[in-house]
Amino acid sequence: MSLTITPLHDTFVAAIEGTDLSSGVDDATMDEIRQAFHDNSIIVFHGQDLSNDQHVAFSRHFGELQGHTVSHWLLPSHPEILVLSNRGRGGVKPLDNGGAYWHSDITYEEVPPLGSILYALTVPPEGGNTMFADMYAAYEALDDETKEQVDGLIGIHTYKQRYLKMAEGGKRPKLSDEKMAEWTDVEHSVVLTHPETGRKALFVNEGFTVGIKGMEQAEADALLEKLFAHSTQDRFVYSHPWKAGDIVMWDNRCTMHCATPYDVEKYERTMHRTTIRGTKPV
Ligand code: OGA
Ligand code: MN
Repeated sequence: MSLTITPLHDTFVAAIEGTDLSSGVDDATMDEIRQAFHDNSIIVFHGQDLSNDQHVAFSRHFGELQGHTVSHWLLPSHPEILVLSNRGRGGVKPLDNGGAYWHSDITYEEVPPLGSILYALTVPPEGGNTMFADMYAAYEALDDETKEQVDGLIGIHTYKQRYLKMAEGGKRPKLSDEKMAEWTDVEHSVVLTHPETGRKALFVNEGFTVGIKGMEQAEADALLEKLFAHSTQDRFVYSHPWKAGDIVMWDNRCTMHCATPYDVEKYERTMHRTTIRGTKPV
């Protein structure tokens, strides 16, 4: 089968038409999809209608799946699926505007995911876009001096500060001290080399990167702030306007994303996410 691949942005993101993911995907088509994923970092499929099993089966073509540290957002019948829903569908707790800050998924673990596959079931008629940033392009556009400064630095990532911030705002249930103690700091290269494409990408994010190894906190904060502001300039950003039936798969190693607001009282927004296990960034 030959797919139609249409760019949705100058430097990354492409829509793939011509495949119905519910009917299973043969090896040749998977090769094309994988190539498109590596070429574009983010691939978009429109008009899909997947059961939970089919969502999981498609995701497994890319590798082993992983859950989430906060298990009450995982679908009890399919713990490989994280439910992002302001109504808490499927027996999970509501998750309002999850990820409404620039981040890559689960970089607070030693081995962050390869990528995530987000499937829109119910979306508001307005608002609730997801923005994505091209972290290859962001790295490549740094001036030589900054490149030299950041190459070889090690970032410190944690979930704790983010969760506490959300819990204090009343947006997340309080968790036991024991659970919180599981969230220790981890270290990742500030600039990684993508294991498939060999390209360099910036790998720090506003969500979970809280410091730079061996750097004084104020200096690290200033550098991180500068890198976040740089990476999220309009020229590096694509904003996805969701329709029910859309699937967006992002490469977590070379993109960031950020949820945008919508009227949570008026509208339901329910998305299912699978998360593919990655390798330690280097
Ligand atoms: C995610 C995420 C943002 C959104 O699924 O990892 O951050 O717009 N989603 O739902
Ligand atoms: Mn996310």
